[in-house]
Amino acid sequence: MRESIHTWAKNTLGATGDFDVLPLIGSKEFVAWLPTFLESRKVLFPEIAYPTYNVGAMMAKAISIPVDFDASQWPVADLAWVNTPSNPTGRVHTRAELLEAISYSRKNKTVLACDECYLEFGYDKTPFSILSLTEGNNQNILAVHSLSKRSSLAGYRAGFVIGDSDLIAKIREVRKHAGMMVALPIQLAMIAALSDSTHVQEQRDRYNARREALTPALIRHGFRIDESHAGLYIWCTRDEDSWESVDWLANLGILATPGSFYGSSGAKHIRVALTATDAQINQALARLNQTAS
Ligand SMILES: Cc1ncc(COP(=O)(O)O)c(C=O)c1O
Repeated sequence: MRESIHTWAKNTLGATGDFDVLPLIGSKEFVAWLPTFLESRKVLFPEIAYPTYNVGAMMAKAISIPVDFDASQWPVADLAWVNTPSNPTGRVHTRAELLEAISYSRKNKTVLACDECYLEFGYDKTPFSILSLTEGNNQNILAVHSLSKRSSLAGYRAGFVIGDSDLIAKIREVRKHAGMMVALPIQLAMIAALSDSTHVQEQRDRYNARREALTPALIRHGFRIDESHAGLYIWCTRDEDSWESVDWLANLGILATPGSFYGSSGAKHIRVALTATDAQINQALARLNQTAS
């Protein structure tokens, strides 16, 4: 399995130089426990973000600081999270932003963990891995991946992290004594999933077709689409409190997530997931189309 991850990291992410890989019981447990493994005191995370970055900092009793994308403005910290493509916004980091984050990490000796679990689901932008930009020097760099998204294996709990060999050796030492091993049948499923990319292409096309079906209907009802360049979500707003938008959709029997779940900067947006079945998406579309704006 480790060999499969290694090969995939080179071929798909463009990883170079010395790096190691570590299987995870889904990537969420790693996001939650990393600050504890590293005994981090100060953790940076994106101001609109998947909540577990902050939860992990809280579990480690670290100070957590939400930050913007520009790493040249980040305060000194011992762990910094980047998420590209972003959940919930679908924003894709630029090359310049990732390079700035790498130089921040090198300057401050900060562990830079890049959560890339939606990497293969580009829409109108093609996301790329932080590991393709390190020029083979992966010191203090970690890229986090998940087969929950890539291969729709959420129920299997199958993720992995790739990066700095010394850091991964240190983390592995703690994890193996804490019982965080991936079960053998899951390891075999991971090998099978990583050795095929056709299913990923098919799933990407499916998500993007759902995105293209829902987007005009949301716009017709006054929503503005922001970011949403990749990933499994549409991030949109009617410049009203997110709960008002959620209520409006709920009255049509459509479930969306209030952006406030991802930080106060998201309080006027909603996240519409493209993970429902095609039949459900079509039903939502029919309800939107039958409703007056
Ligand atoms: C940004 C991000 N990271 C990590 C995860 C965790 O995924 P899993 O634990 O299924 O690998 C999620 C799940 O929604 C996510 O959105």
